[in-house]
Amino acid sequence: MTGHAPITTPFTAESTAAEVIEGIDLTGQRAIVTGGASGIGIETARALAGAGAEVTLAVRNLAAGERTADDIIAATGNKQVLVAPLDLADRSSVAAFTAEWDGPLHILVNNAGVMACPEARTAEGWELQFATNHLVAAAGGARIASVSSSAHLRSPVVFDDIHFREREYEPWAAYGQSKTANVLFAVEASRRWAGDGITVNALMPGAIRTGLQRHVTEAELDRLRAEVGATEVHWKTPEQGAATSVLVVTSPLLAGVGGRYFEDCNEAELHQPGSRRGVAAYALDPDAAALLWQVSVDLLAS
Ligand SMILES: NC(=O)c1ccc[n+]([C@@H]2O[C@H](COP(=O)([O-])OP(=O)(O)OC[C@H]3O[C@@H](n4cnc5c(N)ncnc54)[C@H](OP(=O)(O)O)[C@@H]3O)[C@@H](O)[C@H]2O)c1
Repeated sequence: MTGHAPITTPFTAESTAAEVIEGIDLTGQRAIVTGGASGIGIETARALAGAGAEVTLAVRNLAAGERTADDIIAATGNKQVLVAPLDLADRSSVAAFTAEWDGPLHILVNNAGVMACPEARTAEGWELQFATNHLVAAAGGARIASVSSSAHLRSPVVFDDIHFREREYEPWAAYGQSKTANVLFAVEASRRWAGDGITVNALMPGAIRTGLQRHVTEAELDRLRAEVGATEVHWKTPEQGAATSVLVVTSPLLAGVGGRYFEDCNEAELHQPGSRRGVAAYALDPDAAALLWQVSVDLLAS
């Protein structure tokens, strides 16, 4: 049980980021969107900038970042769209990014991610999907979105062997584990930071054709769907894919709400066997969330 009635909103899977943010004024607010130069990140940044926020695209491809910023400035008329270098798999890059940041941060969308890539490790020997999708996401902020996925249903965090040192590397298990970590981060960060007015929520954006599928063939996607008895995917546009991220960091309906998992712009029910929807109980487990926090702090200190 999630222990409460899931929060519902008037928005649905079809809602776009622009619809979700309509009527919300973010003037004077400062936002960061990681991975803001592609896919869902572009549309998330565009919606926030359109509502008047100062938006920093935190990206590893600066040329793509500049192109995206120019496009958003032209489309919204908001000149406060900035680009800063950030490679989440490189701790010195994360340290440089945070050192450069000055003043308050009101909105953080931890959107950057990799999916089902071949086995790879950071300089520290950490499994790359875990490192990119979870580890260095643990920065401070005020309203934070932790972009997870229904793929979290594929694996809990396997504390005995997070980095696949003992077990054989399996790209989907690694992706699933990292996306469960995104939800557990929202749970523990909200518990720790709610007193400071900081809330963190996790979300599934939907299925959107983006650069994320670069390591996956159509045949592989078909195989994955067949595993759960699904015959077809309901693809969203990037504008629809950005809606749930934008909802959790801007909607007055979710003010003060943290540690929860949203999909299609509403809080998810607990996952039921045979379904690809919902949130796994292990992803909301407060003990696992606290343990992951400690493991992450230890890793980052090592
Ligand atoms: N698309 C979907 O169907 C779907 C479904 C569920 C969840 N999601 C989640 O949605 C989020 C956004 O994905 P997307 O679909 O928009 O895919 P995308 O177009 O591939 O965007 C992912 C972004 O993350 C960036 N990134 C990857 N590794 C990074 C690193 N080490 N440091 C900094 N940035 C890094 C990428 O930068 P580069 O361009 O430089 O590679 C890219 O900008 C991800 O967290 C993903 O797991 C997507």
